[in-house]
Amino acid sequence: MNVPIKTSDEIEKMREAGRQAALVLEMLTPHVQAGTSTGKLDRLCYDFIVNELGSTPAPLDYHGFPKSICTSINHVVCHGIPDDAKKLKKGDIMNIDITVKTSDGYHGDSSMMFIVGETIQGERLCRVTQECLYQSIAAVKPGARLSDLARVIETHAEANGYSVVRDFCGHGIGAGFHEDPQILHYNGYAPEADIELAAGMCFTIEPMINVGDYRTKVLRDGWTAVTKDKSLSAQWEHTLLVTATGVEVLTARADEDLSFLDG
Ligand code: MF3
Ligand code: CO
Ligand code: CO
Repeated sequence: MNVPIKTSDEIEKMREAGRQAALVLEMLTPHVQAGTSTGKLDRLCYDFIVNELGSTPAPLDYHGFPKSICTSINHVVCHGIPDDAKKLKKGDIMNIDITVKTSDGYHGDSSMMFIVGETIQGERLCRVTQECLYQSIAAVKPGARLSDLARVIETHAEANGYSVVRDFCGHGIGAGFHEDPQILHYNGYAPEADIELAAGMCFTIEPMINVGDYRTKVLRDGWTAVTKDKSLSAQWEHTLLVTATGVEVLTARADEDLSFLDG
């Protein structure tokens, strides 16, 4: 496996890509409301990424994906396709996944959950899934193994009665949208794939956690992945850089409390 180590010049470009992905999610947040369509959110992102940031939405035309962002509501696990006819309702939970490709050619990939109105089950799932992401980020440092990250996620999800999706994973990222290594969120590594982290690696962690069973299926549109048992699913994603002493969250949002990483 060829896991790229970024040069300091590439790291600067990754920082900019990550910053831009975070800006898109911040821009979008006030627009996520009951009655808004996912098609409208997609157009807001396209316009912002192209006209304000001077970058490209990486999902658009990626292996034929038809839109600029992924919008995954309730039992949709990932890769939901924005649609003008799909309006948000109170009680929905939704993941929005943004990937920006800068004019320098580097990618920033991040996703977060939005809770529309009130849902006790949904809020708990979203919180525990974010904790899975944060606890695994805290385990990133040179010398840690990929399986260490997976174990943290699986342990926390299962302690809360949830399951970890196996059919989709995180990934290395840089000039390529999806680079080596694969980042599994459950303990499924072949020994040779369970590499040690080293400073200069960039990758995403993006756990998908289900209230019910971990199994998924893809709908006939060829993209939308849903839970087989129709249970709720949540996901949070950041793009990360392994530093000499730990980790830098390249897609951190301005309002996000990452103080758990200090000391
Ligand atoms: N952003 C997703 C990820 O986290 C990938 C979306 S690919 C698309 O890797 F084609 F569905 F957009
Ligand atoms: Co990703
Ligand atoms: Co993503």
